[in-house]
Amino acid sequence: MQTIAVVNQKGGCGKSTTAINTAGALAEGGKRVLLIDLDPQAHATIGLGFDPDAFDHTIYDLLTNAGKDLATIGVRTNLERLDLAPCNVLLASAELELGGVSGKELLLGGALRQTRDVYDICVIDCPPSLGVLTLNALVASTDIVVPVQVHYYALEGLKRLLETIRIIRDRFHPYSMESIHLLLTFVEERRTFSRQIQQQMRDIFGDLVFDTVIHRDVRVAESPSAGEPVLTYAPRSKAAADYRALAGEILTGAPVAGLAPHSRVRRGIQKRLTTLFEGVWIPRRMPRINPGSIEST
Ligand SMILES: Nc1ncnc2c1ncn2[C@@H]1O[C@H](COP(=O)(O)OP(=O)(O)O)[C@@H](O)[C@H]1O
Ligand SMILES: [Mg+2]
Repeated sequence: MQTIAVVNQKGGCGKSTTAINTAGALAEGGKRVLLIDLDPQAHATIGLGFDPDAFDHTIYDLLTNAGKDLATIGVRTNLERLDLAPCNVLLASAELELGGVSGKELLLGGALRQTRDVYDICVIDCPPSLGVLTLNALVASTDIVVPVQVHYYALEGLKRLLETIRIIRDRFHPYSMESIHLLLTFVEERRTFSRQIQQQMRDIFGDLVFDTVIHRDVRVAESPSAGEPVLTYAPRSKAAADYRALAGEILTGAPVAGLAPHSRVRRGIQKRLTTLFEGVWIPRRMPRINPGSIEST
């Protein structure tokens, strides 16, 4: 089963928004999708209109109690073909409880193998840290999507994340991820700085950066209060269109036709960004996400 972890240890870069709306858009496109909420803040659970404290069983049980599986935890959402494996704040204690357990990084991957005939795609919303929860997601995934806010400081943390991904990949190969992509979020085409960062990221990371970008859109910020993804809350909004385009790019490995070409901009900050990523492992030749080539392991 294609399993996409949405990862970045930085908070506020658009992970939960991306997890919910990408999962929703893939479901809209006909895929059977499971969204796993792996962040104790439960933003994916809340964002889909659920009360995190109302569940008898959550992802916490799956990770700490061998008797529970995803089939007993998963719930239907208001979106057709989209199920949610919810969590609540209890999940925060899993980090501590699992501390000394051997094979603790493999728990989620093991649980996912049981559901590979039920869903086509699984999307995992990760917490803003690189602890045992995120490690479980990285080990369980075939694909990694890293939302990167188009903002200078946001790029600093990316170095550490890429290094962590490299270590996990070396250690857990061949179970580990097959592709990694950066998703530029909070893009504002009218701002020169936003366009510059976008261009420099493409210069440095090449094909690793999705052609699709997610624009800053106030409708996104409104949608959690309605308990809906922006996809259904404001289906004609710019952000909804962006997430549909992203789902298309994930499924076909190519940008959706009609997407505006990326404008070339001045090289003002090139040098600083290149310096920032000097010596950092950049997984250049990893393939694009392509479900056809990703058979479940
Ligand atoms: N494209 C966007 N435009 C405007 N606001 C956004 C956008 N993406 C996310 N947000 C808002 O920014 C905040 C952080 O986003 P979120 O997805 O929760 O990030 P993370 O999960 O990485 O912490 C939320 O309030 C969210 O509604
Ligand atoms: Mg989040």
